[in-house]
Amino acid sequence: MKFKNSNVLITGGASGIGKIMGRIALEKGANCLIIWDINEQNMADTEKELSAIGKVKCYRVDVGDVNVIHEAYTSTVKECGDVDILINNAGVVTGNKSFDKIGTNEIELLIRINAIGPMLVAREILPDMLKRNRGHICNIASAGGMLGNPKMSVYGASKWAAIGWSESVRIELQEQKTPVRITTIAPYYINTGMFNGVNSPIFPILDPEKTSAKIIRAIEKNKVFYGIPFGFHFIRFWQFILPFPLFDFVFGKVFGIYHTMDNFVGKK
Ligand SMILES: NC(=O)c1ccc[n+]([C@@H]2O[C@H](COP(=O)([O-])OP(=O)(O)OC[C@H]3O[C@@H](n4cnc5c(N)ncnc54)[C@H](O)[C@@H]3O)[C@@H](O)[C@H]2O)c1
Repeated sequence: MKFKNSNVLITGGASGIGKIMGRIALEKGANCLIIWDINEQNMADTEKELSAIGKVKCYRVDVGDVNVIHEAYTSTVKECGDVDILINNAGVVTGNKSFDKIGTNEIELLIRINAIGPMLVAREILPDMLKRNRGHICNIASAGGMLGNPKMSVYGASKWAAIGWSESVRIELQEQKTPVRITTIAPYYINTGMFNGVNSPIFPILDPEKTSAKIIRAIEKNKVFYGIPFGFHFIRFWQFILPFPLFDFVFGKVFGIYHTMDNFVGKK
């Protein structure tokens, strides 16, 4: 779907790739950029900065809270009009503990924000998109949702859930023959600060600006699934072809993926 004259809602749009995608959407002629985030200071700064390019409206929304989502959506439609493009981008990571040391609160937070959040937001907005026969939902998952990785088991689980859900809804929409589309994005580590400290010996950490531009292009081209970098599309293929010990050897030892989280510090 094209961004020109569209109302674009980005969750977690007050920092990182969410903020960059918002800026690109406005540069492409979006009618209104709507940001739902929990960080009020970052939202105020973003609104000030991006208002120079186009119309920006910010709402304090916790994407894990169904009641807040409902109220915010009502205000959004009243103040900005219908949402044409939704980018489910808000996400959290809580640390690099092995699973035996993770607390119940961490498990609940990761699953609530990264897996349930996109579902609640999409379920609020999708019915109107279907009624209007117009809309595009882009779900930002992670390459961590395509293969197992130590010290991020629950984050990975939340993103596996997001991918499985996003793919299933995409097929539902396809079968309903609606023009409403879904794009699932699975990026490798991006240099936004969220995964500060990760060590990736073979695959370069992604540039936020280029990654955001690629996601926006994927939406414009109605891509179904987009792994970044492109080679990550083939993870499922290698999982199918290689016996588990060989897959673990190649991805874990040769590519060093299984130790990327060892020195994770994340955002302060
Ligand atoms: N940075 C990476 O290496 C990487 C890799 C793959 C996927 N991703 C995914 O990309 C997305 C964006 O990540 P980023 O790197 O830009 O991180 P970021 O921390 O800069 O941005 C995340 C945004 O989400 C907001 N947020 C957090 N909890 C929220 C909640 N409950 N409700 C509403 N907003 C909330 C934060 O305030 C922040 O503005 C996330 O979903 C993340 O999991 C990131």
